[in-house]
Amino acid sequence: MKLIYLILLTLLISCGEDNDSDIDEVVVLNIPDYFPQYTIPDDNKFTPDRIKLGEKIFNSNLLSKNNSISCASCHLSDVAFANNLKTRAGVFDRPGTRNVPSIFNVIFQERFLREGSVPTLEQQALVPVQEHNEFDNDWETILERLNSDTEFRDLLDKSKYIFPSDNKLITEFNVYAVIRPLAAYQRTLLSVNSKYDKHIQNKINLTSSELLGEKLFKSDSLNCSKCHSGVLFSDYNFYNNGLYESYKDVGRNRFTLDPTDIGKFKVPSLRNVEITYPYMHDGSVASLEEVISHYEKGGYNHQNKSQLIKGFKLSQVEKVALIDFLKTLTEL
Ligand code: HEC
Ligand code: HEC
Repeated sequence: MKLIYLILLTLLISCGEDNDSDIDEVVVLNIPDYFPQYTIPDDNKFTPDRIKLGEKIFNSNLLSKNNSISCASCHLSDVAFANNLKTRAGVFDRPGTRNVPSIFNVIFQERFLREGSVPTLEQQALVPVQEHNEFDNDWETILERLNSDTEFRDLLDKSKYIFPSDNKLITEFNVYAVIRPLAAYQRTLLSVNSKYDKHIQNKINLTSSELLGEKLFKSDSLNCSKCHSGVLFSDYNFYNNGLYESYKDVGRNRFTLDPTDIGKFKVPSLRNVEITYPYMHDGSVASLEEVISHYEKGGYNHQNKSQLIKGFKLSQVEKVALIDFLKTLTEL
């Protein structure tokens, strides 16, 4: 059901041409040059008003059925836009099923959700709106609420979105004009200035323990950087890291139905990992110490477990060093 809905909306959304040709890209993101390239959709160029509108929608309770929660209730700005609960409840305290991921640096991602089923950030916003245990709302209600709010209407006018099918300026909220500002705002959520970045830029020296941790992280015996690769500490691919012998949440298999995808999840970025506990798709691992102990033992022998997860032995000093290194990825 959810997938069919998304496919229909994809068709609806992607038939437009470059409707933003009159908009100048006025917001320039401050991203160091060693980060990967990113693309901004032609029909959702950055302007300060669009970002402001997106931020206001992100923080507004009117998206949820009973006006009780917003995107920001789950993606907390002081927890790297993740959440320290194992899973965060949605409307009417309906329990969540997955741990809330950080949405810092989503600008660099091409597949969203832990099984990677959603191809654009614009479309991702459709998911929590209709999800039973998130906002459980319908668009008619949301659009009505937005359209009767003068502040939202004013920002919409300033945002100058053009609807592709009739080429007209959008003056009343529709789905198109809600999901675009939300995506524009989220693309500005960057974490590119950690202690590790200052180290790359030769502005500070890491301690000897942090340097030992970096060496271990990148070593062929631990293999961490084979999946948590590059400066984002993720290749955004899908692996089974041996968390379970039998998975309640089948991960990527939910989307592809391919049995070799059971238990595969998108590699999370490790930026800010110090503060985004608990860990893994279900928040089942409480601390970084426990994460390392999981990899040290090599996890469960699931048929789809990656060959890169094979166990290793670290001394106490080395374990501390590995964690010290991971903590350099926190943005101070
Ligand atoms: C009830 C809590 C909750 C609310 C409300 C919520 N989210 Fe999320 N969000 C989650 C969880 C849990 C996931 C992971 C879901 C999954 O993988 O299936 C997630 C995933 C995401 C992702 C994908 C991140 C990635 O790395 O793939 C983005 C982007 C996102 N949310 C943005 C939003 C926006 C925008 C809103 C508001 C329109 C919102 N969320 C509302 C809990 C929430
Ligand atoms: C085969 C690829 C692979 C290798 C090798 C690997 N990881 Fe992971 N890692 C993953 C995947 C996939 C997840 C997410 C699993 C899930 O959601 O259940 C993950 C999750 C994590 C998390 C939790 C992050 C969060 O936000 O939930 C940490 C921390 C972590 N890995 C650290 C490491 C360290 C340290 C090493 C080396 C000892 C390592 N990983 C090796 C693929 C890998």
